[in-house]
Amino acid sequence: MPRQRAPRRKVTIIGAGNVGATVAQRIVEAGLADVVLLDIVPGLPQGKALDLAEAGPLLGHDVSVIGTNDYADTSDSAVVVVTSGLARQPGMSRDDLLLKNAQIVNNVVEQAAKHSPNSVLVIVTNPLDAMCHVALKASGFPRWRVIGMAGVLDAARFRTFVALELGVSPANTSAFVLGGHGDTMVPIPRYSTVGGVPLTQLLSPDAIERIVERTRNGGAEIVALLKSGSAFYAPGAATAEMVDAILEDRHKILPCSALLKGEYGVDGLYVGVPIRLSRVGVDEIVEVELTEEERAAFQKSAESVRELVATLGTFA
Ligand SMILES: NC(=O)c1ccc[n+]([C@@H]2O[C@H](COP(=O)([O-])OP(=O)(O)OC[C@H]3O[C@@H](n4cnc5c(N)ncnc54)[C@H](O)[C@@H]3O)[C@@H](O)[C@H]2O)c1
Repeated sequence: MPRQRAPRRKVTIIGAGNVGATVAQRIVEAGLADVVLLDIVPGLPQGKALDLAEAGPLLGHDVSVIGTNDYADTSDSAVVVVTSGLARQPGMSRDDLLLKNAQIVNNVVEQAAKHSPNSVLVIVTNPLDAMCHVALKASGFPRWRVIGMAGVLDAARFRTFVALELGVSPANTSAFVLGGHGDTMVPIPRYSTVGGVPLTQLLSPDAIERIVERTRNGGAEIVALLKSGSAFYAPGAATAEMVDAILEDRHKILPCSALLKGEYGVDGLYVGVPIRLSRVGVDEIVEVELTEEERAAFQKSAESVRELVATLGTFA
């Protein structure tokens, strides 16, 4: 008699490219959930999923990982990660990707939401904050179940540069970033710490400004080095951190793109803010005090997201 294993909780990852496959690898290796990898290209998700499964005996993971081009296989996922779209090429801004990726995200989210109506959507495709608007509309989900990944990555980059500057372990650092994903992101050094000590007591204003600038250009720095494609190891790890917080109901406070309804003085816009992330998605938007200068930088960042959303037309 053929034996069938009872299905475990399931995570669907749409887009089996660099970021999607890396997220899949992290989830599978952590044994977090069964993974379905979906792509529009026949064979690509199937090949990558099989390759990941074949690493199981060596690494000791035993969750199921399958590749598919059919949304029926994604049914009843707890979390759907959207990485499908075009990546930036050198000289191309995130915003150039806007309309092309809006079409793709609209299409994939419509189908994924139909098959997993109770899922939490984690959006990764750029331009990130604008794509969250597209996903919110295409899914018809409440705002707390559509979340964007950007701040976790931006904070990780900031922490990396702080650790390099001070010669300390990256694990010893914490960072606080706000705002849209892109050149207007707003790292807040006085809420960023090393071993609990605010960064402003450990580094000069000039050194902090240098690190802030490098963080803002973190994505572009890697695009320029790679010459084709964009970052995926850190983006994959950042996305997996969010998926873990949702699946394990961790109530972690993480910087993510969430739809604001008056919080931080912004209404009806996805912008990066600290949220409490749990199995329901956004459990709470955490508001902190900002100085006049920080508030102005945050508003400027929100404005640049608003301009992008305006060009989305019927997609948002
Ligand atoms: N939010 C962030 O911080 C962050 C970080 C890194 C990358 N990104 C973005 O993530 C996206 C993916 O990056 P990547 O490096 O993995 O790109 P990639 O080109 O390696 O992979 C994208 C995949 O999407 C697939 N795809 C395209 N249209 C599709 C559709 N209609 N249905 C299903 N699959 C489809 C492609 O076939 C491809 O395999 C890009 O938009 C990139 O800018 C965002």
